[in-house]
Amino acid sequence: MSKRPEWLDNAVFYEIYPQSFKDTDGDGIGNINGITEKLPYIKELGCTAIWINPCFESPFGDAGYDVSDYCKVAPRYGTNDDLVNLFHEAHRLGLHVLLDLVPGHTSWEHPWFKESMKAERNEFTDRYIWTDSIWEEPAGYGSLRGISDRDGSCAVNFFTHQPALNYGFYKPDRPWQQSMDSAGAIATREALKDIMRFWLSRGCDGFRVDMAGSLVKNDENGRGTIALWQNIRAFLEKEFPEAAMVSEWGEPYQSLAGGFHMDFLLHFGTSHYNDLFRCEKPFFEGNGDASEFVAKYTDSYGRSKGKGLICIPSGNHDMDRLARHIHGDNQKLAFAFLLSMPGAPYIYYGDEIGMNYVEGLTSVEGGYGRTGSRSPMQWDDSVNAGFSTAPADQLYIPMDPDPNRPTVQAQLGDKASLLNEIKKLISLRQANKPLQSLGKIEFICNGAAGKPLAYTRSLNGELIFVAINPGGDSAEISINGTFKEVIYRFGTGADLHDKKCIIHAGSAVFVTLS
Ligand code: GLC
Repeated sequence: MSKRPEWLDNAVFYEIYPQSFKDTDGDGIGNINGITEKLPYIKELGCTAIWINPCFESPFGDAGYDVSDYCKVAPRYGTNDDLVNLFHEAHRLGLHVLLDLVPGHTSWEHPWFKESMKAERNEFTDRYIWTDSIWEEPAGYGSLRGISDRDGSCAVNFFTHQPALNYGFYKPDRPWQQSMDSAGAIATREALKDIMRFWLSRGCDGFRVDMAGSLVKNDENGRGTIALWQNIRAFLEKEFPEAAMVSEWGEPYQSLAGGFHMDFLLHFGTSHYNDLFRCEKPFFEGNGDASEFVAKYTDSYGRSKGKGLICIPSGNHDMDRLARHIHGDNQKLAFAFLLSMPGAPYIYYGDEIGMNYVEGLTSVEGGYGRTGSRSPMQWDDSVNAGFSTAPADQLYIPMDPDPNRPTVQAQLGDKASLLNEIKKLISLRQANKPLQSLGKIEFICNGAAGKPLAYTRSLNGELIFVAINPGGDSAEISINGTFKEVIYRFGTGADLHDKKCIIHAGSAVFVTLS
């Protein structure tokens, strides 16, 4: 098992999309100093760490996931010094900061790619995946063709303007496919370490890694990519043993074997995560079915136990806002779940006040349908909800036009708000170790159609029972153990009997057990 920074044991993360969080210089787009200014808010919420989406130099064809200089903060966000200052301020408040590392591809404007396009051999010829003839495309990947003097097609990783970096092929089967231990693949891997070194030595606490599971091509069950990350893990262990790593991978048994400390449940792939939050009948909207999620989670948990954390996000910059699918008090029940599960929870900025998905927006910077989940943070009732003093038509993304849009200021003043409920839930988690990252989970009721979710969390002999019932009928749950104290109740709660809990409709309870 990789050595885990101790602070992950009770970490609660807050994801920040830097464009849309807080603009302190009035140009309509958020910046690093804006994030620094709002760190006390994040601390007050109870979060212990932040993940900032890419904030590096980029032509912004994919909102910064198309990097053109990994070691330079994009001027629109500020300077490297501003980011280092953010690290210091965060640390002063006891918060940790993860940057977003995009290892799979660069922008086609990256100087490496410009060199790689040249016909004459140079240091960057093998930095990307090229076929050896323009007439051959890299099967299974999109490609860039006819754009260079170099004869060949270059594989792309995501959008067309994101050429794929070369970490080698697990089993090369064409002459142009390089092996993982070819000089070109190794040079790419070492360049990645240099980028990590650059930011870790300046005070960053680790990375969220973009598309971490797809670096080695023609891979077999992730074996090549796992080996690549194990190599990087050895480097971290030697030079930056305190660095925290979370992967966008979605198969914890693979990513944790690669040396990541945490892996996300993803909104695509096999997790059934969105059976709970975003589908035709989401479980937390009261009429869905969580059983396939529970089955997959239990399987992943069993296969990865002890090796690291499975992290469940409230949302992120790639999926619909939670509030598009889960309404009213059901959002509180969703957070009762998110904040009582193992692993480190991730709260997407604005989800804590139930920000809406803004409908009907034109795509901004490659956002397409994701743009509506990336609108500016709503702080208060001042101009542009306190996000920016720029004229409304100069904002990065328009504000939610809803006159009743939620704001931090209004919710702080309302005892019954989502924000205050989340603060309560986080402080309960911080006060009860079984609810934190490492407490063991055992499901008692799997949320099959019409049924609640119920589980126990336990650590060092302490046991907490959790029941959440977004459904319309009360439900009976049998338990082994004796109820001691109700430490959290939402809605009308539950009737507790000997070895039996009747959880009311639209309610949640956390109860200590002996
Ligand atoms: C990840 C990011 C997403 C980006 C893509 C390509 O999935 O979260 O926003 O577009 O990778 O880098």
